Amino acid sequence: MIPAGPDPRQDPRAVESLLAFWAQAGVEACFDDAPVDRTAEAARMMRAPPPPPPRVPAPVGRLPVRGGPDASAALAEAHAAAAAAGDLAALEAAIAAFDGCGLKFEGARQAVFARGAPDAPVMVIGEGPGADEDAQGAPFVGRAGKLLDKMLAAAGLTGRVFITNTVYWRPPGNRTPTPQEQAVCQPFLERAVALVKPRFLLLAGGASAKSVLRREEGILSLRGRWFDWTSQDGAQTVAAMPTLHPAFLLRQPAAKKKAWQDLLSLTERLDRPA
Ligand code: URA
Repeated sequence: MIPAGPDPRQDPRAVESLLAFWAQAGVEACFDDAPVDRTAEAARMMRAPPPPPPRVPAPVGRLPVRGGPDASAALAEAHAAAAAAGDLAALEAAIAAFDGCGLKFEGARQAVFARGAPDAPVMVIGEGPGADEDAQGAPFVGRAGKLLDKMLAAAGLTGRVFITNTVYWRPPGNRTPTPQEQAVCQPFLERAVALVKPRFLLLAGGASAKSVLRREEGILSLRGRWFDWTSQDGAQTVAAMPTLHPAFLLRQPAAKKKAWQDLLSLTERLDRPA
């Protein structure tokens, strides 16, 4: 029942406030071509018997990525596109043109590849773009990214990092990317490592560490330890350290001490005389 007085649905400020509420809750994508009057729909449902569950067709151009022949076709396509990229600009263009990761069709505005020095000795690999990254087209540019930049600056790493993610499209509602989504993006990540040739990988958060290192332990057990990361074809090996994700540090500031220890371990190896 709408209370007496002006109808809030006609008030632009009320509509803006409701939209801001949904955006903050992570609802930013509209999947229907035409607006739906949910109030009329609710009234209709009160009268009609419940319809059978709808069959949702896959969006045009999307390849299923959960196993099966389409997943291996998408992976083969990713390998071919990544291998053909002769430099980072070509790799970025290849990622943007790639249709084999379902995340591309789940509301992301654009592909988000990387930022930083193209010949950096350290490659930071996060989980995947969030809302700010999706809007700006660069990784780690939101609150977590600002904290990451401050920590890197304090450790003397400004200008010495190349920053990217395990997936290149924002997962809807900022959910963790699935192992399948990470797997189909992996050829691009491996190509980025081959082109940048970092001496060290810094893996930010459990979703990155588990996917890149192909390990099952949680981040609290993985962080601060050194691992040898080897590419799928065995051609590249790079020393890698998992650390806590800056978004986690924003929620648990007491854990910053551990992340700081990890960074010191990294800089100690980086600056160790040959
Ligand atoms: N979190 C990530 O893991 N990556 C980003 O780019 C931003 C936030």
